[in-house]
Amino acid sequence: MTGGGIDVHGLRHTFSGAAGDVQALDGVDLAVPGGTFATVVGPSGCGKSTLLRILAGLLIPGAGEATIDGETVIGAPGRSAYMPQKDLLLPWRRALANATLGAEVAGISHAEARQRARALFEPFGLAGFEKAWPSQLSGGMRQRLALLRTFLLPAGALLLDEPFGALDAITRREMHRWLQDVWLADRRTVLLITHDVEEALFLSDTVSVMSPRPGKMVAHVPVPFARPREGSIVTSPDFVALKAKLLAALDAAGTG
Ligand SMILES: Nc1ncnc2c1ncn2[C@@H]1O[C@H](COP(=O)(O)OP(=O)(O)O)[C@@H](O)[C@H]1O
Ligand SMILES: [Mg+2]
Repeated sequence: MTGGGIDVHGLRHTFSGAAGDVQALDGVDLAVPGGTFATVVGPSGCGKSTLLRILAGLLIPGAGEATIDGETVIGAPGRSAYMPQKDLLLPWRRALANATLGAEVAGISHAEARQRARALFEPFGLAGFEKAWPSQLSGGMRQRLALLRTFLLPAGALLLDEPFGALDAITRREMHRWLQDVWLADRRTVLLITHDVEEALFLSDTVSVMSPRPGKMVAHVPVPFARPREGSIVTSPDFVALKAKLLAALDAAGTG
């Protein structure tokens, strides 16, 4: 699948409130070819979630262009599958009913959404938990369920906002290998947000570095490693060297 290409040009946004203006984005440019996995890393508060909310069509920027598959997404939700930073599982819906939530809104029939969701419970490591309540799931399982719901949406591009942010380091590493596998089976365009440089390098074809607020892109780093990547790749000399390069780009952006 090669659809779902993302193009962003000159995005600017300022939030205005009682406490004054906060400029979040200052001319963000980004191109993600269809079918590739791209990640944006940047310090807390630099505007990463703001960028994703604009791409999801939920926030209208002050200026700039953003398209998916060549069609504008400005003020046009539904052209992507968006997973917000908080997992937003509904505690009063069982796992299967949480999984189908977005698909029903996207116009897939209830029966078809349930059938497609059931088929994903096994690859998402949730087999047997269809009837569980969110409170009965571990943190990793909750995130996989929120990701399952996102993958179920009929969109060529997935927008994932720090999907593993709340997990411990060991669970995160398991989730990285698992996400690589489900992504390889699917190959839709992904734009992932994280502040974890190792996560970014392990999963991505390209890593873009954002400056502190107001955010703009200060580096685009291609990640050349063949897939599937082994968990042990993170200690290889080439990986460690690229990690050092990325950390240097983040540090340079922070002081610049
Ligand atoms: N709705 C809002 N109103 C006012 N300021 C906001 C709003 N949303 C985000 N901001 C501010 O914009 C900046 C960027 O926020 P955000 O995009 O959430 O950053 P990140 O995801 O990189 O941590 C922060 O300073 C944040 O406080
Ligand atoms: Mg954020």
